Amino acid sequence: MAVGDDQRTGRDEVSDIEAVMSVTNTDVDEALHAVRDNADAIFTWDYTKGARPKLERLYEKSKISMWNARTDLAWDTDVDQEKVVADNNFAAQSLLGGNADVSGTPLALWGDKEWLEFGIESQNWTLSQFLHGEQGALVCTAKIVESVPWIDAKYYAATQVMDEARHVEVFARYLDEKLSGHYPINAHLKLLLDDIISDSRWDMTYLGMQIMVEGLALAAFGFISQLSTEPLLKQLLRYIMNDEARHVAFGVLSLSDYYAELSDAEMKERQEFAFEAAVRMRDRFLQQEVFERMGISPAIAAPLVQQAPERLMFQSMLFSRIVPNCRRLGLLDANGGWLRERFVELGVIGFEHWEDPEHEAMFALAEGAGDQQ
Ligand SMILES: [Fe+2]
Ligand SMILES: [Fe+2]
Repeated sequence: MAVGDDQRTGRDEVSDIEAVMSVTNTDVDEALHAVRDNADAIFTWDYTKGARPKLERLYEKSKISMWNARTDLAWDTDVDQEKVVADNNFAAQSLLGGNADVSGTPLALWGDKEWLEFGIESQNWTLSQFLHGEQGALVCTAKIVESVPWIDAKYYAATQVMDEARHVEVFARYLDEKLSGHYPINAHLKLLLDDIISDSRWDMTYLGMQIMVEGLALAAFGFISQLSTEPLLKQLLRYIMNDEARHVAFGVLSLSDYYAELSDAEMKERQEFAFEAAVRMRDRFLQQEVFERMGISPAIAAPLVQQAPERLMFQSMLFSRIVPNCRRLGLLDANGGWLRERFVELGVIGFEHWEDPEHEAMFALAEGAGDQQ
């Protein structure tokens, strides 16, 4: 199937900028958002702890890795957001980075004041999307507790629910106390989370959240913590990333045995789901809501963002965890390499064998290496 035939994204051309921009969040004032969860809640009467030893090791590791968002982070750190942005900490996040050719567009009239404002709004937007994504993780892992059939996975997922509550708490507080405004959830991220929650198959929660959303988050957190000089942000991202490395490992280890037994047709559904998630996550980084708030039509801004020299590097880097994990799950090469071809088209296949030391350490721990109790 060619990308152009893709039915899940509903587009003729996967990178059609107008199609991307036509997806907007129309419920920005809603206080609650209900999604029908079509999955069965599963009880198991097999309480044998350690029947899946890798998951049990992750669970034990998780129990001794808890931290307290209120007392373990230096909340008394004074954050000067203007200075942080002026220091160019978020240059790569702002996507344009000051190097795009904006001549002939309204952006050509921007001075230092507008670029600073853009940087600030961009930071508010980015952290807001992290916040909403973390709530998505909180809800998804609660769903995994309900829907996964194995007791070791229910135990582990329960610890992840606590982790995700902590992450939501951290980003909400950082936005409230250290930054200068919230953004509603990005339309593309919202659609993706809705799809993950509403799917009736328990493994799709894992695939969508643990492999795709969390894989991307881990890459984005790592990128920002490297760039930023703001000590509190670096500290909280470090804490959160330690948790996230465990979460992604949980996803890979839970799915790898299960996917080995699926038929080609079943694998194709997973490949398409992964591809759609990848496209939606890529599209959200156009930051259309930031441009709207700055009074610039996203239709004008988006092509500039797409052509910005930093963007391709940033965008492909975001997939550095996702692509190797899709390989581990057999998703790249099933059905004649369908997903591999899609990732070639997205320009991210180069990360196929990319290794993250923390990530590898977590897999090793689950395999029984190290100092497990
Ligand atoms: Fe999280
Ligand atoms: Fe997570």
